[in-house]
Amino acid sequence: MKRKKSNPDSVSDLRNVRVVLGICGSIAAYKSPELVRLLVGRGAEVSCILTANGARFVTPLTLQTLSRAKVYEGMFDSWDWDIEHISLAQKADIIVVAPASADMIARLAAGRADDLLSCVILAARKPVLICPAMNENMWLHPATKENVRRCVSYGYRFTQPQEGELACGVNGAGRLAELESIVADINTTVHST
Ligand SMILES: Cc1cc2nc3c(=O)[nH]c(=O)nc-3n(C[C@H](O)[C@H](O)[C@H](O)COP(=O)(O)O)c2cc1C
Repeated sequence: MKRKKSNPDSVSDLRNVRVVLGICGSIAAYKSPELVRLLVGRGAEVSCILTANGARFVTPLTLQTLSRAKVYEGMFDSWDWDIEHISLAQKADIIVVAPASADMIARLAAGRADDLLSCVILAARKPVLICPAMNENMWLHPATKENVRRCVSYGYRFTQPQEGELACGVNGAGRLAELESIVADINTTVHST
């Protein structure tokens, strides 16, 4: 969907914007239903892709209810002719991964396609916004830094994690960015591409 460029600060709605939201296996996945609610409240059409490990933290039922849409999980779940990783890639205006695990970032950096979410991202020619959430040591590890650098070189954007209290009980970097700043970055991205 082609949109006119505008000042993102003045754009407060995501009407008719098709967001594919990937949710990975992080404790921060408990915030994803609220992110869905915020996006739907701004008029976005949200399709969730839940990784197998993401489903350990948040249920498809919650996401399906708040997004009012089917939640996609397995690569081989589709029972009709539609090839989901291609159609989801085509229909998205933006793909957002929130929370993005260290492992998903590594898979994206490597160009892997061994689950539905990484496959959709590899098949898409759409803006990708990655919102990491992890333990501070994982976030600051040189391997993660190199994977982020490679993702940036492919054109993927990042909403940087914050410092704050982490699920492991310490204060540090790696906390999922505030949901409002993720929504603001989605707004900026879709209105500038
Ligand atoms: C309780 C618990 C919390 C976790 N939290 C995180 C996290 O915040 N960030 C992260 O990168 N990995 C976290 N992990 C590890 C991931 O779940 C693991 O790397 C997994 O392979 C990610 O799979 P996915 O990226 O396909 O969803 C956590 C694991 C457990 C058991």
